[in-house]
Amino acid sequence: MTITVRAPAKVNLVLVVGRPGEDGYHPLNTVYQAISLYDDVRVSDAEEWHVSVAPLGEIDVSVVPLDESNIALRAGRALVAHHGLDLAAGIEIHKGIPVAGGLAGGSADAAAALVALDRLWDLRTSDDDLLAIAAELGSDVPFALLGGSAHGLGHGELVEPLTDHGSYWWVVVPSDDGLSTPAVYREFDALHPDLTRAAHEESPTDLVAALERGDPDALASSMRNDLEGAALSLRPELAERMAQVQDHCDRTVMLSGSGPTILGLTTSQQEALESRAALLEAGFEVVHVATGPVAGAHVVEYA
Ligand code: C5P
Repeated sequence: MTITVRAPAKVNLVLVVGRPGEDGYHPLNTVYQAISLYDDVRVSDAEEWHVSVAPLGEIDVSVVPLDESNIALRAGRALVAHHGLDLAAGIEIHKGIPVAGGLAGGSADAAAALVALDRLWDLRTSDDDLLAIAAELGSDVPFALLGGSAHGLGHGELVEPLTDHGSYWWVVVPSDDGLSTPAVYREFDALHPDLTRAAHEESPTDLVAALERGDPDALASSMRNDLEGAALSLRPELAERMAQVQDHCDRTVMLSGSGPTILGLTTSQQEALESRAALLEAGFEVVHVATGPVAGAHVVEYA
């Protein structure tokens, strides 16, 4: 039997970053939204663990590690360890989420692998246990299980669903060269040596209210990404790219998470498609259109 699970990319509508703790992690106050770019993860029983990756569309998968450091493989091993089992699986990752783009594609793979293997072996892991295993794998993995729109605290792993009555349309503009998340956080520390902010005290109440009303104008005016300065400092040419995207996008433009993917919020599906066409015309090679919020990791095929 094979089981395929689909998991979404995320964007951070708000990303407030505080002073790093002793573990080196930065306390966050963030609002996540799952958007309709997906990785599919297909699992089947095997004698030994192994993982492969293939692109879905125009995605460069050459930097995805296929050794023990692969996050989907680590997810599989963590799940069997949690249940005290000695099982192995083959994991195929079909990537539709740009790699190292600030869209949490690796986290999507981990979340998808957890759900797929739980179903393959009928482990019936509780939601709380799945979220706890996910949090050990990476800060964004619990949100990839949850999907929708959610508030994130801790280092991003403590997630609570938010009411979101809107549906929003995004243009998503990846860059050829990914950015390393730890490198962007290090640059953030270098740029803010005297930061005293406790991120949990800066709750994004305006943005949460905007989602509850489903009001894209209020959303546009309350979006914020504290990592943008650090990503632009490492990649100054991104500022020009963002300005170009803004020229062809009717609402707010910002970086996704640690970047370098650029997000443009548009007013409608039609506007997003027109914006994409204009950006392609202007010389951008790859521009995705995505809607959010969408579901977290979910089964799409049993075969
Ligand atoms: O949790 P995850 O493995 O995705 O994080 C990757 C790296 O990003 C961490 O090792 C850390 O350097 C940095 N990070 C951080 N603060 C966070 C989340 C991630 O410093 N809240």
